[in-house]
Amino acid sequence: MIPNIALVGFMGCGKTSVGRCLAARTGYDFVDTDDLVAEKAGKPVAEIFAAEGEGAFRVMEREVLQGLVGRKRMILSTGGGLILEPVNREALRRMGIVAWLDADPDLLFERASRSGRRPLLQTDTPKESFHQLLESRIAIYSDTSDFRVDSTALDHTQTAEAILESLGRHPRRFAFDETPA
Ligand code: S3P
Repeated sequence: MIPNIALVGFMGCGKTSVGRCLAARTGYDFVDTDDLVAEKAGKPVAEIFAAEGEGAFRVMEREVLQGLVGRKRMILSTGGGLILEPVNREALRRMGIVAWLDADPDLLFERASRSGRRPLLQTDTPKESFHQLLESRIAIYSDTSDFRVDSTALDHTQTAEAILESLGRHPRRFAFDETPA
């Protein structure tokens, strides 16, 4: 059985939308680490970064993830930088299957900058910041995940289907856990 499916990947890869599709398809709960951090802090992620800095956000992000260890039947959408901490990578790997959602960098940038709310892109040169961060993380997404799905030419539903297909082929898959939580 697959206890949980975690989605990792860079800002703009569609973890939240694809995660919701996957949750609808599997009957698993949709859980988003950014939402839980915002709830814990009582303010949106952008405000946490502005008021307390990235370090404080990372501490809360780690705590939120640790609080999910042991939970089952989740589709877990993770913030793009959650995989930076080794302890988080270990937790994700223990929780279940980890899927890396990827897409063409220009498309990721276009999507990530659309909302204008991503704190790590609030720099004088957002495109350069974006590419530097992406470069520094690609190997980590790759090492942390069981497989990669390229969503460049896919919509959210098709991406969710592609993940389910990859799971069907994946050796760690046994069957979905259909028993109620
Ligand atoms: C971050 C990505 C964001 C959010 C925070 C930091 C990152 O989540 O966790 O702004 O370090 O890449 P999304 O990947 O959902 O945008």
